[in-house]
Amino acid sequence: MAALPSTPSIAVFGLGIIGSRVADLLCAAGHKVGTWSRSPRPRPDFEPDPAALAERSHVLLCFLKDVPAVRETLAAIRPHLSPAKIFVNHATIDLETTQLLEKECQAAGCGFLNAPFTGSKMAAQNGRLVYYAGGETSTLEQLRPILEASAQQIIPMESAAHATIIKLTTNLISACTVQALAESLRISQAHGISADTLLAAIQGNACGSVLAGMKIPSMAAEDYDPHFSLSNMLKDSRYVIDLATRAGLNTPALRCVSDQMAALNDQGLGEFDFSILNSQFSSDQPQ
Ligand SMILES: NC(=O)c1ccc[n+]([C@@H]2O[C@H](COP(=O)([O-])OP(=O)(O)OC[C@H]3O[C@@H](n4cnc5c(N)ncnc54)[C@H](OP(=O)(O)O)[C@@H]3O)[C@@H](O)[C@H]2O)c1
Repeated sequence: MAALPSTPSIAVFGLGIIGSRVADLLCAAGHKVGTWSRSPRPRPDFEPDPAALAERSHVLLCFLKDVPAVRETLAAIRPHLSPAKIFVNHATIDLETTQLLEKECQAAGCGFLNAPFTGSKMAAQNGRLVYYAGGETSTLEQLRPILEASAQQIIPMESAAHATIIKLTTNLISACTVQALAESLRISQAHGISADTLLAAIQGNACGSVLAGMKIPSMAAEDYDPHFSLSNMLKDSRYVIDLATRAGLNTPALRCVSDQMAALNDQGLGEFDFSILNSQFSSDQPQ
């Protein structure tokens, strides 16, 4: 893999909740940015052809949704992977697809970093994402100024595979935690205790978390504007169940939450925030 030029051109693939905000941060930091998304966006840097964008860019950042999105886009840009480029996966995908990306990049002599992240819509907006970065140290160091435009922290991982596994296992905790928070909120409210009182008690308790501070107020207000969508948390639950199964492990808590999310997704609620898990207790789901 060749060294990047001093002002590399950066391609952002996937202008969803996170990719659109990271593209804005990169532009604001003075980087040369081009963007592509499956559905066209009214941005001056938008390129409708992913292959053309890959061809003219040095660093390819992937903020796509899931395994099909990443595999389809990889197929479109594969002819343009070369030693002059680095492909960076930021999507939360399964282990098999992570390994495929690594193999395809190696075969093309292209640099590869697997850098899934944590931090939601507001963290992306404020440049406060935390990247789990698995790949060659020299590749990470070349990319550091680019990642820092949207990062609060970059945590190096031993390998690309480890970055995906850590991203998935930490999402397991978030999915089960929000289910637990929703149950705790509903029981407390049913007995006349306000969300504020519950939240104050949680935050003084060892079970307190940033997630509780974000999700208890929004669930109490029945505000399910998406920061991280139910459909995305559902696919992550399936990827982590696959990891557990490969290790011969059962994960009863996650399986239960995954089934709840699948039922809500089947009702057409997949693009709401995953905290819509709070609506499964009654018939008050948003229309
Ligand atoms: N939001 C969060 O809080 C958060 C946190 C951590 C990790 N992540 C992960 O980061 C990634 C992006 O998250 P996000 O919240 O920005 O997702 P999102 O809002 O759902 O956006 C997904 C993007 O993928 C594209 N896409 C979907 N299916 C596609 C397909 N078959 N082919 C090509 N493109 C396709 C969409 O394109 P169009 O919209 O143009 O159709 C969109 O640009 C996901 O893997 C997610 O799990 C998100």
